[in-house]
Amino acid sequence: MPSLEISDLKALAKRRVPKMFFDYADSGAWTEGTYRANEADYHKIKLRQRVLVDMTNRSLASTMIGQKVSMPVALSPTGLTGMQHADGEMLAAQAAEEFGVPFTLSTMSICSIEDVASVTTKPFWFQLYVMKDRDFVRNLIERAKAAKCSALVLTLDLQILGQRHKDLRNGLSAPPKFTPKHIWQMATRPGWCLKMMKTQRRGFGNIVGHAKNVSDLSSLSAWTAEQFDPKLSWDDVAWIKQLWGGPLILKGILDPEDARMAAKTGADAIIVSNHGGRQLDGAASSISMLPRIVDAVGGDIEIHIDGGIRSGQDILKAVALGARGTYIGRPFLYGLGASGKTGVRLALDILRKELDITMALCGKRDILDVDRDILDSDAGQLP
Ligand code: FNR
Repeated sequence: MPSLEISDLKALAKRRVPKMFFDYADSGAWTEGTYRANEADYHKIKLRQRVLVDMTNRSLASTMIGQKVSMPVALSPTGLTGMQHADGEMLAAQAAEEFGVPFTLSTMSICSIEDVASVTTKPFWFQLYVMKDRDFVRNLIERAKAAKCSALVLTLDLQILGQRHKDLRNGLSAPPKFTPKHIWQMATRPGWCLKMMKTQRRGFGNIVGHAKNVSDLSSLSAWTAEQFDPKLSWDDVAWIKQLWGGPLILKGILDPEDARMAAKTGADAIIVSNHGGRQLDGAASSISMLPRIVDAVGGDIEIHIDGGIRSGQDILKAVALGARGTYIGRPFLYGLGASGKTGVRLALDILRKELDITMALCGKRDILDVDRDILDSDAGQLP
């Protein structure tokens, strides 16, 4: 059966990736209410159907923070991506590069910055968690510079870790609890296992061997569990900005007041995000907050958004409401779990096709001309 939409890739990934790692991607915090709202709220927004408008010569090309993109979509930073598929970050980065959209490598990735740099030819983006160990942070930034990363995505909404019940039930905690159940889950996914056995990459590649006293998997999990910094402040953002000196994107803004603070930092963009519903359960969906944030700071800073995007229609709605760029997390992870690099390409292809046709049917030929005018102002608009 052909994979025609993102949900087809999700179904395939579920069959191919061991349960504990599939669940890790497919989970939100506590009741998962915000995780569900992120997707559901896109369906409340209605598009205007237009006819007899010239629909030839369409263009999805745009820029995000001044960098060219073949469509306004980037791959979100996601931790443990290399557990969805062996060498997952390297494969996803290659797929994104071939497609002409940014790939963002997470601090908590399995493949390291250097691994990804070794298999790509164009710059990728690096996502930073500010750990308590500031020497480690300094060193990570130096490594991202050495790898010629063309943007730093600084995540602000994980000062402490939200609780995800699926992970706890699956024993995916720090330290991880490996039981016969996990071995069985892996053994029943032989394709995944065979590829994993061939790869050299184990544990968090950006951390092992780079952080003090972290040399193996057990010291790694203890270190990571206590390194997120509950004291992170706007002063730290200024410090990182100065240390990095390049294009900076602030990720995890969901409130207009925080957006105003973020705009004052002189960063290049903010990402309206609730971490894909993985942190504050009960928070509003990203798309429902976008109009208020655009009204607050739209003239001052470039605005991007993530969370719940599962189709080209969703991308178009976000752009119409003022997002210059969008990000996909789970959609590319499902593609990766389903069939590696080909699956990530397929996810991007699906989204591009949907975006292109939807834009045309709304009577637009150029993504740069899309604005609130394509939305039906009476049919269930947000907020
Ligand atoms: C994430 N996210 C995330 N964000 C971040 O800044 N650093 C990280 O390491 C991770 N790790 C991570 C792992 C997994 C499995 C998921 C699903 C998400 C959040 C991510 O960058 C993004 O905000 C959301 O994934 C966007 O929502 P969708 O597209 O997954 O609905």
